[in-house]
Amino acid sequence: MKTIDELLADGDGVRGKRVFVRADLNVPLSGTTITDDGRIRAVLPTVVRLAEAGARVIVASHLGRPKGAPDPAFSLAPAAARLGELLGQHGIHTEFATDTVGESARAVVAGLADGQVAVLENLRFNPGETAKDDAERGAFADRLAALADLYVGDGFGAVHRKHASVYDLPARLPHAAGGLIATEVGVLKKLTENVERPYVVVLGGAKVSDKLGVIDHLLEKADRILIGGGMAFTFLKAQGHEVGSSLLQEDQIPVVREYLKRADERGVEFVLPVDLKVAAEFPDLKTKAP
Ligand code: 3PG
Repeated sequence: MKTIDELLADGDGVRGKRVFVRADLNVPLSGTTITDDGRIRAVLPTVVRLAEAGARVIVASHLGRPKGAPDPAFSLAPAAARLGELLGQHGIHTEFATDTVGESARAVVAGLADGQVAVLENLRFNPGETAKDDAERGAFADRLAALADLYVGDGFGAVHRKHASVYDLPARLPHAAGGLIATEVGVLKKLTENVERPYVVVLGGAKVSDKLGVIDHLLEKADRILIGGGMAFTFLKAQGHEVGSSLLQEDQIPVVREYLKRADERGVEFVLPVDLKVAAEFPDLKTKAP
């Protein structure tokens, strides 16, 4: 895949072109307050570079898991406002469209001057974004493609999703990987090729299923794999422990058992949490430690 550097160096560069940036602005919210703006800051350099090169930048992302229809609880408005604030520090003007491919998006994009940024509303407000059906996803991707001339993929947290804006849209437009993707791929390469030993990997998160490929690969490379977060319970259950009503991916237990067996054979150590606190209900955990 082309890099953003190559895109900027190409012919006339990006000046005056509408560049669709698929970001991951899926930030944690408390009501409408962003509690961690790390993902917005992470994509900022890509957006700034494109805008400063004269592109008309269209930033799009999902937030949470709405059910394919507009839902104010999952609006990207707070993230767009924060991105606008950060871009404002670079003298870059930002507009927010209240839909993804409708009247508002078309008007906001049409009104962009060179070097300005539009942020679209949550892509998952449209059922086509996450549709399993190729034709339905493709139809939504066609409508997104009509908004832009070029595509930059920079939503690192979402690149594994077979969604319209991630999978189908780059097939319809000249495309490049953004700065964040390039950085993350560089780090991953360093961690998977010619590794230094001892090589210890820490993995967390709720879903084992999202990390299957990673664990599979790391079993061939790592000396130790430390498992934290919600997915630790699927490992504990696979080892025969009771986990009550803790987060569990029951259907992944056989796969995890197979990993534990392979790890044993290869001398790779899986380290699971031992400092667990047990309570009848989640609020009970908020009591002071004894
Ligand atoms: C994440 O937070 O893991 C990414 O934004 C992807 O979100 P998703 O798991 O809802 O696709």
